[in-house]
Amino acid sequence: DKAGHKHFMAKEIAEQPGVLNTTLVNYLGTDGEITLPDPGIDFTAIDRLTMVACGTAYYACLTAKYWFEQVARLPVEVDVASEFRYREPPIPGRTLALFVSQSGETADTLAALRYCEGKADKIVSVINVPESSIARESDLALPIHAGVEVGVASTKAFTCQLTVLLMLALRAARDRGAIDADVFADHVSALRGLPALMTHGIDRSAVMQATARKLAEARDILFLGRGVMYPLALEGALKLKEISYIHAEAYASGELKHGPIALIDKHVPVVVMAPKDGLFDKTVSNMQEVMARKGKVVLVSNAAGIAEAGDGVWEKIAMPDCPDIVAPILYALPAQLLAYHTAVAKGTDVDQPRNLAKSVTVE
Ligand code: M6R
Repeated sequence: DKAGHKHFMAKEIAEQPGVLNTTLVNYLGTDGEITLPDPGIDFTAIDRLTMVACGTAYYACLTAKYWFEQVARLPVEVDVASEFRYREPPIPGRTLALFVSQSGETADTLAALRYCEGKADKIVSVINVPESSIARESDLALPIHAGVEVGVASTKAFTCQLTVLLMLALRAARDRGAIDADVFADHVSALRGLPALMTHGIDRSAVMQATARKLAEARDILFLGRGVMYPLALEGALKLKEISYIHAEAYASGELKHGPIALIDKHVPVVVMAPKDGLFDKTVSNMQEVMARKGKVVLVSNAAGIAEAGDGVWEKIAMPDCPDIVAPILYALPAQLLAYHTAVAKGTDVDQPRNLAKSVTVE
């Protein structure tokens, strides 16, 4: 049942404020502490994290790497499951292996988990289907509470994965004594503010629709992001190619000069995901490099960022202001909505894109 929406993907995007609230309620106590299901995780017994997943779940892991490293000071390795399993990497002692999968049935992710059995100190999964193989074979399975996701393009599962991973990073930071109590409390209240923020973000869908009509004309689109926005750029490009069939690639903004800038001309839109944060000035100079080559910049930022970017930006998408820590979760919305409206403008089969399956249970 699409609940009045044209596609399951649209319904699932719109559901995000509600399901995120459910996710939060399941982990955040009224005392402001983060509670994990039994048997929990002893983060003082862990020195490093190995995160493994595929597709959008892999981008959730890449995002979480910034959180675990910056907030909990835990070194993190992230890999796609198909590479990890055959590389047979050494797993040092005091390693927590963390697997992220919406379906819990992705063949490569399950094989990577089995490879870690008997090697990692603890095997934890972040899943949407509690009775799935990956959940059953983990020492601890953390449900994301996104509800059934039908659209092949993952949307609400991604933001719920991010939310659980952020809570896990905060819990790790707290247990390891890596975070001040007031900073922890600020981050928790940022999390509590997420559902309302997401509602405001969804309210900007019409602006994204107008931009998407223009993107639908393009043959190639680049996405750029820096820091924690880099995985979001990757997710935006994946979402777009998956459902609109437009060739899209993402780069860390700082990599532009190292090759991709050669692709830029007046036909190439460049979507820049960049709230005004400590790295924004560097992003502005990347945008200027694109504009000097007549590339069409679509800037996704907050009001302050858009004001600072100045003239020459082709399309501006203003997002609500938000605490930096939750920005990747809020900015998942423009990644999803730009792809969705572009696909609708092109008339593709949004919920069942060609050649793709919802769950990849074979290699
Ligand atoms: O069920 P999983 O989370 O393990 O699936 C992983 C990927 O197959 C999945 O995220 C895929 O990339 C989506 N179609 C992306 O929208």
